[in-house]
Amino acid sequence: MSPQPPTGVHPQLAVDVVDRLEWVSGLYPGYRRAHAKGACYRGVFLPSGKVSTLTTAAHLQVDPVPATVRFSNFSGNPYIWDRSRSARGLSVSFHLPGGVSTDLVMVSQPVFVAATPQDMWEFLQAAEPDVFTGSPDPEVLRRYATEHAESFRGLRAVKKTPIPVSYATLRYWAVHAFVWVNRRLQRTAVRYRWEPEAGVQQLTDERAAAKSPNYLHEELAERLANGSVAFTLRVQLAGPGDATDDCTALWPADRTELTAGRLLVTGEVEDQAKAEQRMFDPTRLVPGLELSDDPMLAFRAQVYAVSHSRRTRGS
Ligand code: HEM
Repeated sequence: MSPQPPTGVHPQLAVDVVDRLEWVSGLYPGYRRAHAKGACYRGVFLPSGKVSTLTTAAHLQVDPVPATVRFSNFSGNPYIWDRSRSARGLSVSFHLPGGVSTDLVMVSQPVFVAATPQDMWEFLQAAEPDVFTGSPDPEVLRRYATEHAESFRGLRAVKKTPIPVSYATLRYWAVHAFVWVNRRLQRTAVRYRWEPEAGVQQLTDERAAAKSPNYLHEELAERLANGSVAFTLRVQLAGPGDATDDCTALWPADRTELTAGRLLVTGEVEDQAKAEQRMFDPTRLVPGLELSDDPMLAFRAQVYAVSHSRRTRGS
């Protein structure tokens, strides 16, 4: 009998999903197969010192940590207009001593549209653009939603996704649960969220229509010329019975929340082409952090590796 891959490891499905992403968005050699349009920035993370009893993770103690930050649009099309109604990404690599880093890869919606790799595959099939209209067939998407009741919240979030005034005026969520481990090896499941210190601000469709196709990048350059851009890292702690394996579900809003620190984005990186080669990976952890049992986490790492390997060899 041939050995079975461990749970959460789906090498062929990861390849198939990247092929499908290329089909849905178009193939743009050298670019990420999702979140293709984006740019990298320098930053620093200032831990609050308030969570060190819950995790030994080095970036969540007391010392400031240099960071690389990337803002992006969700699409795999690097020429997509910024005024489109779609999710945005905020990825952060925290650079720790010894050349070690750990990443937080977040989007501007609190839940995802699929709970398992197989469901993601089915979602991508349902989201395939019609050859005549160039848009997904609403009837096929509706069927996916009916067959996957858990996807309802994520699909509604996609539909209602705001057109932001700025990358600096959106909330971003890690969507999955992660696990913190402290000095006594006690474990706490957590969910991360970046809160924009500039407040949440979005555009009406009319105001968005007047914006330049690249206004998000241009606006951020202006904002950074006048000072830094800041986000607060808020962390929700799981309560008894909260599921840690389902990125389509929220935990109750009354769960304890802590502030883990502040991110200051200070300017654009000098060598943008080199920085864009970087792969942000939600499963790149350091001691004091563990993955939850969410099957999508391990799967994302495989999908991103396929996308990264294709784009860095220029295909
Ligand atoms: C199975 C589901 C998913 C698939 C197939 C997928 C696919 C991808 C791919 C192919 C990339 C480009 C990777 C690279 O070349 O470096 C990417 C990037 C990204 N994904 Fe996902 N993704 C999934 C789930 C999610 C979820 C749940 C989130 C929410 C947190 C998310 C947020 C992001 C962000 C923010 C980036 C940009 C990373 C960067 O700045 O480099 N993705 N995704």
